Amino acid sequence: MSGGGRMDERYATIAVIDIGTSKVSCGIAHIGGDGGSITVVGKGTAVNTGMRKGVVTDIEKTGAAIKAAVDAAERLSGYHIEHATISVSGSHVEGQNSSGQVAVSNPDREIRDDDVDRVLEVCRAVQVPGSRMLLHVLPSSYIVDGQEGIQQPRGMVAFRLEARAHLITAGATAIQNLEKCVQAAGIAVDDYVPSSLAASELTLTDTERELGTVLVDIGAETCDIAIFHNNAVVHSAVLPIGAAFVTRDVAIGLKTSIAAAEELKINYGTCDLRTVSVSEQYTVPNEPGGRRIERIELARIIESRMSEMFELIAGVIAVAGPEATSAGVVLTGGGSQLDGITTLARDILKAPVRVAAPDGPLLGILDDFQGPSSAATLGLFSWVARSMGEIGIAEEPQAGLGGRIAGGFKNLLSRLRG
Ligand SMILES: Nc1ncnc2c1ncn2[C@@H]1O[C@H](COP(=O)(O)OP(=O)(O)OP(=O)(O)O)[C@@H](O)[C@H]1O
Ligand SMILES: [Mg+2]
Repeated sequence: MSGGGRMDERYATIAVIDIGTSKVSCGIAHIGGDGGSITVVGKGTAVNTGMRKGVVTDIEKTGAAIKAAVDAAERLSGYHIEHATISVSGSHVEGQNSSGQVAVSNPDREIRDDDVDRVLEVCRAVQVPGSRMLLHVLPSSYIVDGQEGIQQPRGMVAFRLEARAHLITAGATAIQNLEKCVQAAGIAVDDYVPSSLAASELTLTDTERELGTVLVDIGAETCDIAIFHNNAVVHSAVLPIGAAFVTRDVAIGLKTSIAAAEELKINYGTCDLRTVSVSEQYTVPNEPGGRRIERIELARIIESRMSEMFELIAGVIAVAGPEATSAGVVLTGGGSQLDGITTLARDILKAPVRVAAPDGPLLGILDDFQGPSSAATLGLFSWVARSMGEIGIAEEPQAGLGGRIAGGFKNLLSRLRG
């Protein structure tokens, strides 16, 4: 391992790729070191024109966008990416709840790891049609001899162990096509993480996760929704709607180009009609003659499409039950930056609403990685960091390196080195 030193062996270097409908973002970071921090050492973003509503429609274009984002991240960091954890979206990604039970196997009736593994295996054993793939089994809570709401059953004494879990499945061909795009860029996929869960990682507080919160990642053509309660995912869904459709409506409504509509939306758009005075006018960009439009007209178009979006989101929340919004709704993703969004969302969803950018133990070169549109990208780092902790590779101390370093970490690092 060239250039490897004491410092290098104290963390894992990993790569993530958020493959969105409007852009692909690739990041390289050191995970671990002091207190599980995420130090971004490379990043790259490229415009993606090969997807519709979160699903690949053109392998060549999406592959080229991935390659461009990866190349930029590699150049900046000096690392070579051979494999990465990626995000998945699209309405083919579905969540469903499952449960299972087993008898505790040990004669002393103490619940061990293998009992937990077995009960999750039962949860996992639902019928998944051949056209779908099971991506994740996320335990939500355990029931120990009828006692509900147990988060950590290991070490407890019982006859019977039950588990509830949230299962995420995805369309097999959609995943295969996405994998083809990543492979076309010369990269193997480590893990597929639903965009909603990636985006939730660094945006929700512990209290929000516990009391009940709806996370909505508003992207260009998808709204990725994950609902948390009692520190677990209890519901998830992907809606094929997003901020690009607002831009399209503006372009049609004001008879202008998509580029001009996007500029108008970002600079002067709002979905809170109450804040717009009737006298406000702006010039349509890139048009000869300097045509003027009324801001209220722009706002009405935006408000109408955004209301429709939040009505559909309200439908998803209603299915999850009243606890879903106990601590409110958190919006993130590029589309959450629209002016007036919290007011409109609060009126329709009838819950407190805030807009969140990724926040947490983030270090390194962040710059334009800090806004809501990077929630999923940076969240992917956090997801990988947590999985490393969960599978125990961060726990094994090695002699002479100050502890908490594992063989697994070194492997990841050397595989990444060019
Ligand atoms: N300042 C802003 N105000 C309003 N909207 C914005 C702003 N900045 C970006 N957007 C919108 O955010 C959208 C892109 O969001 P994002 O980057 O999260 O999408 P994506 O991840 O590529 O798409 P998806 O997740 O749907 O596949 C665009 O449609 C854009 O119009
Ligand atoms: Mg996205």
